[in-house]
Amino acid sequence: QELELKLESLEKGGFEHFMMKEIFEQPRSIRDCMRGRIFPLEGKVELGGIKQYTDKLKNAERIIIIACGTSWHAGLTGEYLIEEYGRIKVEVEYASEFRYRNPIITDKDIVMAVSQSGETADTLAAIEIAKERGATILGICNVVGASIPRVTDAGVYTHAGPEIGVASTKAFTAQVTVLTLIALYIAQHKGTLTPAKLGSLLTELDTIPDKIQTLLQDNDLIEDIASKIKNAPNCLFLGRGFGFPVALEGALKLKEISYIHAEGYPAAEMKHGPIALIDEQMPVIFIATKNSSYEKVISNIQEVKARKGIVIAIVTQGDIKVKNMADYCIEIPDADEAFLPLLATVPLQLLSYHIAVKRGCNVDQPRNLAKSVTVE
Ligand code: G6P
Repeated sequence: QELELKLESLEKGGFEHFMMKEIFEQPRSIRDCMRGRIFPLEGKVELGGIKQYTDKLKNAERIIIIACGTSWHAGLTGEYLIEEYGRIKVEVEYASEFRYRNPIITDKDIVMAVSQSGETADTLAAIEIAKERGATILGICNVVGASIPRVTDAGVYTHAGPEIGVASTKAFTAQVTVLTLIALYIAQHKGTLTPAKLGSLLTELDTIPDKIQTLLQDNDLIEDIASKIKNAPNCLFLGRGFGFPVALEGALKLKEISYIHAEGYPAAEMKHGPIALIDEQMPVIFIATKNSSYEKVISNIQEVKARKGIVIAIVTQGDIKVKNMADYCIEIPDADEAFLPLLATVPLQLLSYHIAVKRGCNVDQPRNLAKSVTVE
């Protein structure tokens, strides 16, 4: 048994939990995911796994992304990315809903299934339905040779390496990376981005792992913030645009491992409900980086402050405006807004981790949850 314990601590690479190890692995896992796929100098993306389907992809009228849980949130970033750069209409569906509602699908559709494990029962069943109706099925999976990659027509592996923590971290950022690559791949072949713009986005994408490395240095600061809000009964996560899927994922991470009730919402929707919940006990986590929705998010922050909510903001390095309003700020390096999900998610993973540890929760194996849900 002592040997087993030693083995486990070796596997955790010096970290107390797998989740922390996996959060810190992200600069490497994202680099692994992009290796041999991006060529910034040539302004080119290569995705060998789906090469045969390039024409089909670029001519698709619609892409439907199906997934569950955290993978669904990655899918939502895919919608924003593919619509912005590839200019193809995207729908993101929960696999469990899709499979039971007689969906309209034709052989002109491309269905992308996103799954870390490649074994999720609902996602597999949804694929079968889409297949029967003639759609082309592409997989975005982490576990090589799992059931989903075996039933799809083609796909792109995320190459994040084994993920042990039940709450997904590095697999999520790898899924987002693949979806970013797919969006840029479509743009390259459709010509929806100029070669210069494509080249500059790829050059910047290449720097994201280093930027994540930098923001991981804020771990202690994030731990301090965690101790301030660890006893909150509820938490709200708000973001707009590319920050919206980040807010959803931030809330899911927190509820999964700390058992604090958390909701993610589009910041502008706050006034249609969640604003009623805000009082001096409610931490509200804002994705408030400098991008196209910055000013709008600032007004949302003012609305929360006016109701005495506790504001924690993810801001762009050097920001002053939000800092003057928020109770706590976490800075992240500046980047094109398309890369916001990759950067802004990481401090939220750390925040959830520290809150859960401080509450004495089992972060690697939260109650009632399974790593892979192979039954309905
Ligand atoms: C479970 C896991 C989540 C995961 C979801 C989908 O709920 O706990 O972390 O996001 O299943 O799993 P998949 O393997 O399809 O990505």
